Amino acid sequence: MFDPVEAVKELVRFPSVSTDSSSHEGMEGARRSLGTLLTGMGFEVEVVETPLHPVLLASRGGEPDWPHVIIYGHYDVQPADPLELWDSPAFEPEVREGFLFGRGTADNKGPLMVHIAAVARFLEKHPDAPLRITFLIEGEEEIGSPSFGGFLERYKDRLAGDFVLLSDTQSPSPEQITITTGLRGIICLDVELTGPKMDLHSGVHGGVVLNPIHALCGLCNSLYTPEGHINVPGFYDDVLPVYEWEREELQRLGLEESDYSDFLGVSRFHAPEDASPFAAIRFHPSLDFNGIWGGYQGEGSKTVIPSKAFVKISCRLVPDQKPIAIQKLFIETLQKRCPPQVSLNIIPGHSGAPYLVAPPDKPNTPKDQSPILAKAFKAADQAIEEVYGKRPLYLREGGSIPIIADLKKVLGLDSIMLGMCTQESNIHAPNENLHLGMFQNGINASEKILNTLAGL
Ligand code: BES
Ligand code: ZN
Repeated sequence: MFDPVEAVKELVRFPSVSTDSSSHEGMEGARRSLGTLLTGMGFEVEVVETPLHPVLLASRGGEPDWPHVIIYGHYDVQPADPLELWDSPAFEPEVREGFLFGRGTADNKGPLMVHIAAVARFLEKHPDAPLRITFLIEGEEEIGSPSFGGFLERYKDRLAGDFVLLSDTQSPSPEQITITTGLRGIICLDVELTGPKMDLHSGVHGGVVLNPIHALCGLCNSLYTPEGHINVPGFYDDVLPVYEWEREELQRLGLEESDYSDFLGVSRFHAPEDASPFAAIRFHPSLDFNGIWGGYQGEGSKTVIPSKAFVKISCRLVPDQKPIAIQKLFIETLQKRCPPQVSLNIIPGHSGAPYLVAPPDKPNTPKDQSPILAKAFKAADQAIEEVYGKRPLYLREGGSIPIIADLKKVLGLDSIMLGMCTQESNIHAPNENLHLGMFQNGINASEKILNTLAGL
């Protein structure tokens, strides 16, 4: 059996930044490292080419009546910048005080390795176990999985499993694990405003043209009400009410609002008036400006009226908001509100639908929930309680993994998501890290789940 921490370190050394076209070698290296590991475990590994980054598919077949678990993960990571804020280099993994530091340690190389290591151990002990396993490891999660739809259509048959198991979400602490029951969806828009056809002298022409930066700020500002709600007509129409059991579960979260605001470094929250911050990220949609620019950004001053101004907007969606419909509402609203002195160009970006799953025995559990999914949920519940010493929480999370809704829509597959990192893991930020205790426990829990599924 390989050393799981060493295997994560090896993976982290490959800078597999999917958004960066110069990271080709890092992407390939991470893929090769995973491919070699899975081949060594007896899996049949296929590198599936896509228009951008290949998908790694690895299967252990078996009899058609054996349960079939699809284990999902992604080998791509976010860019490491700003590099100067890291205490050790992002792609030189380092263990300090029980944490492994490096880009991708928590999102998603470490949590993916939880399940790979669990499978390796499980198969070493039970080489003939009656369980089919397929690893589905993509390389475009961090950029909205543009190739996934096409891939899914082509590989439907290989992915006809019973459910998906993954760890790409968070838990409140290394001891209190969450089984994630929902993810927010997402839409992204690039907005460009053009005023005069060229940059102008702000003295010679100031006072006669609408500055596109001014117009853009007004447009952005119009998207929120003073109460913190999103001010786009129709935006909330499809939002489903939250189930009572979900609110009760949130009561068990055990986090303090003041600790959260300290963690964020803000003195007050900016959440919808009627929601706690913990409810806001899980149950409410949100809107953010991810970048805004235009005009002169250099040293000192420049007296200019810029020709153009830009903003990148993204929105997190909750069930049952539909990404394409919401995108349309935004486009119509911006068009309606855009002052006549400037012209508006909107480029829709990637999008993904929200996802919700009900564990067994809840008021919203489908009557026809598959027995294998129900068994897997119960196995996960028990394994987590045994290994971590605490019952898991069943909570939605604020982040998005768009392919989870796609797998449900196209293949009818639900997902069991075990949160194997925490907010202190700094995903997408400098000093990203993996709590090694949480990691090792995760391997034990995942192995127990596999045992139960195989009837061992
Ligand atoms: N692991 C995250 C998603 C996540 C984080 C879910 C925390 C729940 C809690 C994933 O790698 C991610 O960052 N997803 C992107 C998707 C986007 C690019 C479409 C996200 O949420 O921004
Ligand atoms: Zn991520």
